[in-house]
Amino acid sequence: MTEQLIDLRSDTLTKPTAGMRAAMAAAEVGDDVYSEDPTVRQLEERVAAIFGHEAALFTPTGSMANVLAVRSVVGVGEEILCESSAHIARAELGAHAAYTGLTMRTWTGDRGGLDLDAVRSMFAPDMGPFFVPTRAISIENTHNFGGGSVLPVEEMQALRAFASGVGAAVHLDGARIWNAHVATGVPLEVYGGLVDVLAVCLSKGLGAPVGSLLVGSAAAVAEGRVWRKRMGGGMRQVGILAAAGLHALDHHVERLAEDHANAAVLAEACGIDPAGVDTNIVAVDVPEAASVVAAAREAGVLVSAVGPRTVRAVTHLDVSAAQAQQAASVLAKVLDDLR
Ligand SMILES: Cc1ncc(COP(=O)(O)O)c(C=O)c1O
Repeated sequence: MTEQLIDLRSDTLTKPTAGMRAAMAAAEVGDDVYSEDPTVRQLEERVAAIFGHEAALFTPTGSMANVLAVRSVVGVGEEILCESSAHIARAELGAHAAYTGLTMRTWTGDRGGLDLDAVRSMFAPDMGPFFVPTRAISIENTHNFGGGSVLPVEEMQALRAFASGVGAAVHLDGARIWNAHVATGVPLEVYGGLVDVLAVCLSKGLGAPVGSLLVGSAAAVAEGRVWRKRMGGGMRQVGILAAAGLHALDHHVERLAEDHANAAVLAEACGIDPAGVDTNIVAVDVPEAASVVAAAREAGVLVSAVGPRTVRAVTHLDVSAAQAQQAASVLAKVLDDLR
């Protein structure tokens, strides 16, 4: 029966808590296209301050925040460099090409990581009509398809130094930057200070039902506001959703450590060194992902296939430590039976 299933497919599956729903119900609202929603403004100001940037813009999705963020630093006929399994390259359905008219070139990093040598050799300066000019480099922290891997802050610092030296911008897909912060203790402001523009999500580990933000300069956010409306993302009394985000920032950041501990339990059961699982995502190499997904479902645990031979299990707000233990036993048995 559905209610007995332990759902580890994604951290986007959480349902708003009673406290979050109460905060949403009590939210003061106004028309946000008129910039008159006080709760949205509060959220935007708070998130901009958290990352040490001038401004932020509430968006319905992380994908939209990424498109707005990237297009603030890369134009038509220009390129961005990113990792080959980056969400912007693999899972935003060509939005950056469709809306912005940019191109991407990719490097392949271990667990989605940065390869600065590759970036150095790929970087193309402006050469008029000969090469697509590189305007920005994108990183993802934590990296979704890299198994929730943290990009070490030292590597971000090295990238910042390189990018500043060649006049390129740095974009951060920080959908799960909160997980990186909790796993490493690196302050969010430090992460923010190393990039020109970023996108962050409230609807992943933080447990809000909807909502992401573009974070950057006042100019990037002003332009993002126009493009958000152009893309159909101008929302009205959306303080109801922003209130969920504010509640999440108050109550759901530090608790991500529980998700990370639960992921370590799953990792161990799946025969993975927990030291290689940085946050809340466990990626397991298996002979055939579809059979593992089906057998786990049969035993009451939902996981997803993110490749023909890779299964992903994600811990989140709606998975307790006891459920993680139970899921760990199920997955250990399923993998044992199929190996
Ligand atoms: C790393 C990363 N960036 C961006 C997104 C996009 O978020 P949304 O699904 O809200 O568009 C996701 C979604 O899972 C993600 O994992």
